Amino acid sequence: MKILITGVAGFIGFSLAIQLLKKKHKIYGIDNFDKYYSVSLKKRRVNLLNKNKKFNFSKLDINNKKKLNNFFKKKKIDIIINLAAQAGVRYSLINPTKYIDVNILGFLNLVEEAKINKIKKFIYASSSSVYGENKNFPLKENEKLNPKNIYAVSKKLNEEIAEMHQKIDKINFVGLRFFTIFGEWGRPDMFMMKLFKAHMTKKIFYINNFGNHERDFTYIGDAVKAVEKIIKKRFNKHEVFNICSNNPINIYDVVRNFNKAHKVKFKLIEMHKADIMKTHGSNKKLTNYGLGLNYSEFYKKFYQTFEWYKKNKIYKL
Ligand SMILES: NC(=O)c1ccc[n+]([C@@H]2O[C@H](COP(=O)([O-])OP(=O)(O)OC[C@H]3O[C@@H](n4cnc5c(N)ncnc54)[C@H](O)[C@@H]3O)[C@@H](O)[C@H]2O)c1
Repeated sequence: MKILITGVAGFIGFSLAIQLLKKKHKIYGIDNFDKYYSVSLKKRRVNLLNKNKKFNFSKLDINNKKKLNNFFKKKKIDIIINLAAQAGVRYSLINPTKYIDVNILGFLNLVEEAKINKIKKFIYASSSSVYGENKNFPLKENEKLNPKNIYAVSKKLNEEIAEMHQKIDKINFVGLRFFTIFGEWGRPDMFMMKLFKAHMTKKIFYINNFGNHERDFTYIGDAVKAVEKIIKKRFNKHEVFNICSNNPINIYDVVRNFNKAHKVKFKLIEMHKADIMKTHGSNKKLTNYGLGLNYSEFYKKFYQTFEWYKKNKIYKL
């Protein structure tokens, strides 16, 4: 089975590739090394993957229709896992058009290739952001969606495009609504890596929304195991799953816990316009489909991630 992971130099793409390579799958990875965050970090990830003979990397932009078409002609892919995207909710207020270019037009280019090449399964990243400010916790997949920023709009549209193409072209789509994924090789623009960096470089850490945010932190190891199970399972229609631990944690509590042994100067600031107050998803649907997991304990993985961060001197990248 030839599996394509787009955005393979990214946090989740890289981690999923590592997991699938352990299981001896043949993995094709593409990424354009976008400059949104440290390209050195992305290159470190790909260099690690390149050590495995079953991994094949191509520097490729999903917005480049012609090159993408040639790639598919040559590689004869069976499954697409689309994790290439412009991520991040706050940056969507600064550069909204990029979200449309990559997350919508890039996605459509892949859908086109899936049609031409009769792809068996098309798994794609959505996001917990599609729910917006909804207090019906824990949020189930059938809740009404209410996106609050362009990033969330782009993910909701991905789901709608998938739903439509499943019906018209019989492509088997599965959407993954990731909830604040964290862990080794995590994204430097997200809360945890920013906290570690502030500690290591003795800079001020700004806590948004005066510390009142709650996030359903989900360990990367658990997230990739869920995706692995989804790859193996057959579905009769377009399905969307929350990838979450069903365990919301207050951001300020995390900072205070960390600060006991690892001093960090912090400042409370007001809520960012693009942010959501609280995320908390239900992971019952996965369990109901026989895809349940034992989720990791948050603080164990939090400190494990910090040890990895220090050891690999990620703050220098
Ligand atoms: N990490 C999370 O907590 C989280 C939460 C919700 C949703 N998601 C979604 O999951 C997916 C993966 O997220 P991530 O955290 O790994 O992000 P990431 O930014 O680390 O990875 C995305 C990768 O896509 C690549 N990319 C961007 N534009 C591209 C293009 N035009 N062509 C080819 N490659 C391109 C980037 O270079 C990057 O390596 C994204 O769709 C993201 O929106 C992530």
